[in-house]
Amino acid sequence: MSIDLFDKFDPIIQRRDQLPKEAENPFAVQMEKVLSQTVAIINGRETILCGTNNYMGQTFDQEAMDAAKEAVDNFGTGTTGSRVLNGTYNSHIELEDALKEFYGTEHAMVFSTGYLANLGIISTLAGRDDYIIIDADSHASIYDACQMGQANIVRFKHNSAEDLEKRLRRLPENVGKLVIVEGIYSMLGDEAPLPELVAVSKKFGASIIVDEAHSMGFCGETGRGVAQAQGVEKDVDFIIGTFSKSVGTVGGFCVSNHPKFDVLRLVCRPYMFTASLPPSVVASAKTSVKQLMHAGNRAAVLWENSRALHKGLKDAGFKLGTDKAESPITAVCIDSDEVCTFFWSELLRSGVYVNMALPPATPSGLNLLRCSVCASHTPEQIQTVVATFIEIGKKLDVI
Ligand SMILES: Cc1ncc(COP(=O)(O)O)c(C=O)c1O
Repeated sequence: MSIDLFDKFDPIIQRRDQLPKEAENPFAVQMEKVLSQTVAIINGRETILCGTNNYMGQTFDQEAMDAAKEAVDNFGTGTTGSRVLNGTYNSHIELEDALKEFYGTEHAMVFSTGYLANLGIISTLAGRDDYIIIDADSHASIYDACQMGQANIVRFKHNSAEDLEKRLRRLPENVGKLVIVEGIYSMLGDEAPLPELVAVSKKFGASIIVDEAHSMGFCGETGRGVAQAQGVEKDVDFIIGTFSKSVGTVGGFCVSNHPKFDVLRLVCRPYMFTASLPPSVVASAKTSVKQLMHAGNRAAVLWENSRALHKGLKDAGFKLGTDKAESPITAVCIDSDEVCTFFWSELLRSGVYVNMALPPATPSGLNLLRCSVCASHTPEQIQTVVATFIEIGKKLDVI
């Protein structure tokens, strides 16, 4: 008897089919035209984008777009090779130099995505007898990295230095230990208490990685992230980042001061066995990274927008993922997944796009309408988003 390999997905197919028929499919939205960082045409209508990761609005930065166009003209559309063969151009090195300058580190290594950066760094650093200790709410790329490697995996309670200490205390003494946390968590938008987490890690001789995917560009004095904002940069061993959020394009990276860091270029499979980023992406990423170093005013506007959205929704009585605006992400928690889907759909029909996220992709089994703001949103756009939430929230008895 042959087994249909798709049978195991039946529960997921059933769940998808149970989504309210009159709702749009939240996982199949198409952007018909993107008019700016904050407005797109969806289903033929102008829609405010309040669910992207385009925090600093770099996707339409003129200088970054010009750099990308020039790179296509001069170097073509792709490298057709890995970084360790024919896929390293001058511009890849210049991008790594820009990252070293941005973070003030000795080393930087660029990957083709942030997902691959986590996969590569984590699975390569932690070997068979080592231990990886991760926050329970870690991003999928961190979980997948753990599966790819051969180390022992231990989870600790989200953002709890106390639980981290308990777990570390139980480990054997003479083993390699790698603690992994994020600066800002992508679903609820909450910030990690890095000084406590770093202090505990150091006490037990563990190295620490901070994934700053959702904090680059606007956290800390020069936008290096939560480690900078909370004054613990010198004790963080590796920072992982992505170009797919504040940098406005695609790609990932790791920066570090470890003296042996560069050996990773010879042993890290997700770096070695995939094609490098195309020249256009590298050129726009380099331009944006350099700009983000001096983007203080824009970061201030982003924080103003973040606080305005959070306050507007909180004052209206919505249940939110955080008490105050800890990041540009504000998650609205909805009790039932059916109401959540309706709500999301009504928002879209009213010209507001946010992300909908359901378990198991969310922490604590929450149904979320994940909103995220951009430095390019106007105060009027933020007020429109809040007003639309209030109108639908009342109609659906959520507030
Ligand atoms: C915390 C975190 N790390 C890594 C990634 C992966 O980034 P990329 O989109 O560059 O693959 C994401 C993306 O959502 C993320 O949220």
